[in-house]
Amino acid sequence: MAKKWTPESWHRKRICQVPEYPDPAALGVVEERLRNYPPLVFAGEARRLKDALAKVAEGRAFLLQGGDCAESFAEFHPNNIRDTFRVLLQMAVVLTYGAACPVLKVGRLAGQFAKPRSSDVETIGAVTLPAYRGDMINGMEFTPEARNPDPQRLVQAYNQSAATLNLLRAFAQGGYADLHKVHQWNLGFVADSPLGARYRDLADRLDETLEFMAACGLTSETTPQIRETDFFTSHEALLLPYEEAMTRVDSTTGDWYDTSAHLLWVGDRTRQPDGAHVDFLRGIGNPLGIKAGPTTDADELIRNIDTLNPANEPGRLTIIARMGWDQVERELPRLIRRIVAEGRTVVWACDPMHGNTVKSSNGFKTRHFDRILAEVRSFFAIHKAEGTHAGGVHFELTGQNVTECVGGAKAITEANLSDRYHTHCDPRLNAEQALELAFLVAEMLKMGRVSERAATVGAS
Ligand code: PEP
Ligand code: CO
Repeated sequence: MAKKWTPESWHRKRICQVPEYPDPAALGVVEERLRNYPPLVFAGEARRLKDALAKVAEGRAFLLQGGDCAESFAEFHPNNIRDTFRVLLQMAVVLTYGAACPVLKVGRLAGQFAKPRSSDVETIGAVTLPAYRGDMINGMEFTPEARNPDPQRLVQAYNQSAATLNLLRAFAQGGYADLHKVHQWNLGFVADSPLGARYRDLADRLDETLEFMAACGLTSETTPQIRETDFFTSHEALLLPYEEAMTRVDSTTGDWYDTSAHLLWVGDRTRQPDGAHVDFLRGIGNPLGIKAGPTTDADELIRNIDTLNPANEPGRLTIIARMGWDQVERELPRLIRRIVAEGRTVVWACDPMHGNTVKSSNGFKTRHFDRILAEVRSFFAIHKAEGTHAGGVHFELTGQNVTECVGGAKAITEANLSDRYHTHCDPRLNAEQALELAFLVAEMLKMGRVSERAATVGAS
């Protein structure tokens, strides 16, 4: 039997990747303030996402999760939020239309501010300072003042998340996401590219479908599914003092929910089965994610599943595999087989970003589009071979025209990286690269569905 859980039980466990606050009393004051702030999401919404993820686990829907590696205070602007939302809508429409499959949209947005780091310190020349850990913790500038963890940043992260979520809710439900607007979602710089033309072609066909549906009496007015969309938020539950302060009892069920986002995940560096992060997540009712990198031990994974989803509820747990294009074929099948053998129900999602980060010859942290695509392709092929569902994808992307990942239809080169390299942490796909991937994933999904149907017909 698992020990009794409270939002502060994690304090008794070993913890990695969180900063030492120089003034714990000041952190305590901020936590108390946050405890009295309104929740950002409602428990009922988190349950709705869990139900939708249960459909993904059964292969009846597909998960699209994406957004910034790290949101930043400096880039907080309505246009940035709109552009990320817009590219996710475009990708979702490509996937839904291309694969005739409902697509669940989950942003890495409105709370994705804290980052795990491979080193606690950063050295430039003769100076060594604490590493940057995300705007919620410290500043990116290389000065002792900026790198000092400042609890006031938690309040700013909360406020930015609240305002971001407010705009996302307005976009999702206020008419912006109406399927009649598919043409308008085509971003300026994407519209002029071959991908923009391909998207326009799909949008034309969708328009025709909508006209046909209107003739049958299904319009934006009569059918909310045409006018509105569901959009959920997620982030890595890394900075536990913040997550604890946002955790509240849901009055309708009496269960605890972390109200900072709909879905929370535990990262590849903080998934120790006896560690603080897993302990915190086990007590909240939200759907959860767990990253699985190549060092994931199958026994440890099962232990984490026992802890995080003891009742084996479908939709509760998503395994976000981030193996790397050259390791996925070696490391993913063993985990899938073990989970199948143990009879566990999970959603399998592919994060083709975090196992494929490299340094370019001119010193930029980058990712190759071809390798990202190769990992997604292998992920689909492995699931097909194992008879399991490739449930979703998890991308770091932005609606901006950045040059952070090399390759793609515009063939961004290493020399181009310096043109518009803006990320605060990992290199993101730009809107055009993201759309290109969506078309390729839609093809894989479609092929999978066609072969499933053929197998069903053959069996009957
Ligand atoms: C991330 O998702 O930004 C991240 C740090 O991933 P991982 O824990 O898989 O390295
Ligand atoms: Co990242």
